[in-house]
Amino acid sequence: MIVFDKVTRSFPHNGQGRVTILDNLSFSVPRGEFLCILGPSGCGKTTLLNLIAGFLMPDSGTLSVRNTAVTAPGPDRAMVFQEPTLFPWLTVLQNVMFGLRRQGITRSSCRKQALHHLEITGLAHAVGEYPFALSGGMRQRVAIARVLALNPDVLLMDEPFSALDANTRERLQDELLALRTTHSRATIVYVTHSVSEAAYLADRIIILGDRGNIARDISVTAPHPRERSSAETLELKTLLRTYLGELCSCIPSRRKQLRPS
Ligand SMILES: Nc1ncnc2c1ncn2[C@@H]1O[C@H](COP(=O)(O)OP(=O)(O)O)[C@@H](O)[C@H]1O
Ligand SMILES: [Mg+2]
Repeated sequence: MIVFDKVTRSFPHNGQGRVTILDNLSFSVPRGEFLCILGPSGCGKTTLLNLIAGFLMPDSGTLSVRNTAVTAPGPDRAMVFQEPTLFPWLTVLQNVMFGLRRQGITRSSCRKQALHHLEITGLAHAVGEYPFALSGGMRQRVAIARVLALNPDVLLMDEPFSALDANTRERLQDELLALRTTHSRATIVYVTHSVSEAAYLADRIIILGDRGNIARDISVTAPHPRERSSAETLELKTLLRTYLGELCSCIPSRRKQLRPS
């Protein structure tokens, strides 16, 4: 579904040339996979999602989704951000209808699709509310309903639950897994800094290292539903922490590797 072929992306750095964030990155994500990306802060996780979304272009290499090179954002790829980006002047229902309307769908079928997705995300009672009246967890559910309603092939999620309290986070993780089995077979690329979240959700975990290379690529074969504190999950979390610990001790070295442009 998603293929990175020798993708490199750099950014200007404090007026001193450019710093390479993703360097010659190659990997692919099969259709329907739930891939979690872990890695130290600043290693390029959000950049990777922005490239798939088409918000950013590679400096070199190619990135394709469904065998087509990504050259712009498109309705086949949808992003959920850490802070839900709802329109404050629109109700919950209108927020979910907004993206559908832009696809040229009739008002009545937009409304029907939006209501359906608000129902499956547990928001049927809140369709007429404005975002300010909702809790953080409910706002994030609206954001999820909005992207699911677009029925994207690829769902990009950038630390979507990290701003929520632990109970809400765990509930939304369960809801996401449930939606995946019942309503959407989207390929998911899910960035997190939480080893618990990755161990609980993922079919596969990629740990990005210094220069956004793939430090580890781990298949998680445990079936769902998983136990959050089973011996298997705890073992995986310990392993992930060890891998991340190895990386964090070497990340500052990149700052010395600035390349003049
Ligand atoms: N638009 C940009 N301009 C300049 N530097 C950027 C830009 N976007 C990201 N960066 C830099 O790229 C690095 C990786 O950023 P990011 O992908 O957000 O990391 P992560 O999500 O893993 O924390 C950071 O050092 C960040 O400062
Ligand atoms: Mg980020």
